[in-house]
Amino acid sequence: MWISFAGIITNYKDVKQFLVQKGHKFRSDTDTEIIAKLIKHIHGLHPNYSFRELVEQVIQQLEGAFALCFKSMHFPGEVVATRRGSPLLVGIKTKTKLATDHIPILYSKEHSKLKDTQSDHRPHGHEIPAHGLARSQSTSEFLPQGDNKEVEYFFASDASAIIEHTDRVIYLLDDDVASVEKEGVLKIHRLKRTLEDTHAREITTLKMEIQQIMKGNFSSFMQKEIFEQPESVVTTMRGRINFDSETVVLGGIKDYIGEIRRCRRLLLIACGTSYNSAIATRQLLEELTELPVMVDLASDFLDRNTPIFRDDVCFFISQSGETADTLMALRYCKQRGALIVGITNTVGSSICRESHCGVHINAGPEIGVASTKAYTSQIISLVMFALMVSEDRISAQPRRSEIIQGLRNLPDQIKEVLELDSKIQEISKKVFEKKSLLVLGRGYNYATCLEGALKIKEITYMHSEGILAGELKHGPLALVDKGMPIIMICTRDNVFVKCMNALQQVTAREGRPILICHKNDQEPQKYGSSVLEVPKTVDCLQGILTVIPLQLVSYHVAVLKGCNVDCPRNLAKSVTVE
Ligand code: AGP
Repeated sequence: MWISFAGIITNYKDVKQFLVQKGHKFRSDTDTEIIAKLIKHIHGLHPNYSFRELVEQVIQQLEGAFALCFKSMHFPGEVVATRRGSPLLVGIKTKTKLATDHIPILYSKEHSKLKDTQSDHRPHGHEIPAHGLARSQSTSEFLPQGDNKEVEYFFASDASAIIEHTDRVIYLLDDDVASVEKEGVLKIHRLKRTLEDTHAREITTLKMEIQQIMKGNFSSFMQKEIFEQPESVVTTMRGRINFDSETVVLGGIKDYIGEIRRCRRLLLIACGTSYNSAIATRQLLEELTELPVMVDLASDFLDRNTPIFRDDVCFFISQSGETADTLMALRYCKQRGALIVGITNTVGSSICRESHCGVHINAGPEIGVASTKAYTSQIISLVMFALMVSEDRISAQPRRSEIIQGLRNLPDQIKEVLELDSKIQEISKKVFEKKSLLVLGRGYNYATCLEGALKIKEITYMHSEGILAGELKHGPLALVDKGMPIIMICTRDNVFVKCMNALQQVTAREGRPILICHKNDQEPQKYGSSVLEVPKTVDCLQGILTVIPLQLVSYHVAVLKGCNVDCPRNLAKSVTVE
């Protein structure tokens, strides 16, 4: 048995205990092995079941979130794949056109009760149909037209994994069971018909280019994605901002703007980097929408059973669109009648599909586990949202105008920041052997501190903390001495004086921070051990320019330490488990 598995089986101990009682021996403590043993067990009891029927029996016993793909020597030439809570798609490659652009769902006609005699293969009391499942027949032939019937199928969690082979995909839904049988026909089955079911799965044509997912001359995807930011921010804005008329239209939410303007409050819910993008834009959203804005980590939001009302507008920000905590928080808010707005980078993702409306950030595929270009595009998407909501406020026009012109200049300014790369590499050589790295700032740059520290710990395994400079005196100042590496962000905005104050507190304790400040700004520079000068932009966009040096620091430190930049230990790109 060959199984490709992504996710987590939460009841694997119960299943394992059951299988051990039945005499199965285990070589590992993994949840993958219990799946293999469970299918073997059911096959022993029902040797006449087809491969797909066996998989259907197995998944009825499993709890958790998973995407699974099975092959077996008992069923040569066949593949069965299924998902629940984790993304899974099927890529289709043919030489000629397909006879159809959708594939019908085949449903079970009957569910027989489990007979007493068969109850021994129920790990925890679920029903398993005793007989092979009767199926309605497919009404359309899912095969290429013409004589050449050759067809290849690719099963993957993400479209970027298969784009080099085909651009035609079917996104499977939870509990779909896709099977490719000997004759090469793909079928999609479901055990039960529900009211919400669409009775077919569409074949989608991907708009992704192959070069978007190749590393090119870069040593890692993360490095490539950092350097793509002058272009990715442009694609996020393309077709949405008219810089001459200073108007912003986000097609995915324009029909909901009235409802949004009338709402009680905005809630921004996300995890990790996506959460940091909410922190980065909260202040501007408060200013331009004049609405209360709550920002929450999805896991904490769920833990608190937060009260949600019908007139709340809830934003779910997620690069992958599949993060389990964010998705569960979305469902929680949807059940309570709130308007759901998805901000995602992945077309067709669960968050995308389950939102009432939303914005695709259009940053292009992000492969490195560490999120970089998605972060800057998330910020821009939320800024565009704030601009759109405030379009009818006369008093906000000068501010809107300054921001829109700031966005226009951003790509060139990002290029300028990227020119600091070799200087940042040199600075990284001074800190890569240290145990810890503090990142200090406040105001709009606080999100940069959180995001920079997250990048550093994620890919360099070095302890790093993003600290609000206003909190220094309340504890973190005790950490400061001449040996503690510190990066401090000090740009000219409404908290500049307070930042200078914090900087002096640090230097008074013999701290010699690496400074990120505005070009040619002498005042803070005299306190820095090294200085990274970034161009000045509007306060609410400054975080886009100050975060890039920190993305580069984390990248260079990770390389110097010999860490795997794109696949840091213990982490996954899509966190599809709680
Ligand atoms: C970012 O570098 C991390 N890999 C992680 O914090 C990530 O942002 C988080 O898991 C949320 O992912 P999402 O944006 O796909 O929901």
